[in-house]
Amino acid sequence: ELLKAQAPKTQAWKPLRVHVIGAGTMGADIAGWCVANGMEATLQDLSEEVIAKGIKAQGRVLKRRFKTKAALAAAKARLIADAAGDGVVHADVIIEAIVERLDVKQELFRALEGRIKPDALLATNTSSLEIEAIAEPLQDPGRLIGIHFFNPVAQMPLVEVVRGAASREDEVLKGATFVTAIGKFPLITKSVPGFLVNRVLAPYMMEAMARIEKGEEKERIDEAARAFGMPMGPIELADTVGLDVCAHVGKILGLSPEGSHLDRLVAAKKLGKKTGEGFYVWKDGKPDKGF
Ligand code: NAI
Repeated sequence: ELLKAQAPKTQAWKPLRVHVIGAGTMGADIAGWCVANGMEATLQDLSEEVIAKGIKAQGRVLKRRFKTKAALAAAKARLIADAAGDGVVHADVIIEAIVERLDVKQELFRALEGRIKPDALLATNTSSLEIEAIAEPLQDPGRLIGIHFFNPVAQMPLVEVVRGAASREDEVLKGATFVTAIGKFPLITKSVPGFLVNRVLAPYMMEAMARIEKGEEKERIDEAARAFGMPMGPIELADTVGLDVCAHVGKILGLSPEGSHLDRLVAAKKLGKKTGEGFYVWKDGKPDKGF
């Protein structure tokens, strides 16, 4: 209720076309979600194969959402493979969801800046880099904001709208307008490591992992969290998010010591639900303990 009361006022600017760069875990889901909510989305990646895979996966998502053949066909037609990146020219919103490397992101935005519409919203989905650092090489660094989706996009109602030190207020409000237009809840946050949600959530998850190293059973921790009222325990949540992502966030926030149980699992490519094993073994989308 507090968040709703503080929801930013949306603007008259109407985003209709989205261009997403990076068709991996997040980019494809973001494009698919925008399409499911009535927008047109062009999807760019270095790899045509990755784009095709992403679009195919979104086709399955859209099928669950649109019941008539005509509506499904119309939605699918709004999701467009765009390896050349031509969609950037007409897009109202450009969302970057490429590899988490500052130099690569900076280079991408530098090349984009001269091609986009004057009122287009320029955003990065980075989870750990500073918005102002990514924006630094831009001629107009005030233009860039963060739009930080959570994984899995279709199930997570909250999206952080991240204000970098230089981000202009009208761009931040446009970010909130866009997030609202796609049926998500915008939470405006500062560009500090972990933004707001991960900064609060990570210590809880990392402490749960530290308890396991001290001999506590993971099942007991997760059941305790559930009994407390959490929809899912912290260890099951870590496996669901992906242990590589957790390890990365843990390191950025200085919460994950080198050589931890988490590090060992990541080194062994046991990344959780997505690889079939992490802290738990996963079968048919559920951990072996059958929560
Ligand atoms: P991913 O590795 O699954 O996908 C990245 C894609 O970007 C790859 O398909 C790659 O081919 C493509 N790519 C790399 N450089 C490119 C370039 N110059 N031009 C076009 N495409 C390029 O990565 P993921 O997990 O989707 O992460 C993307 C971004 O989203 C990162 O900034 C990450 O921090 C952020 N993020 C990730 C979350 C997650 O749970 N995985 C959650 C929230 C944010």
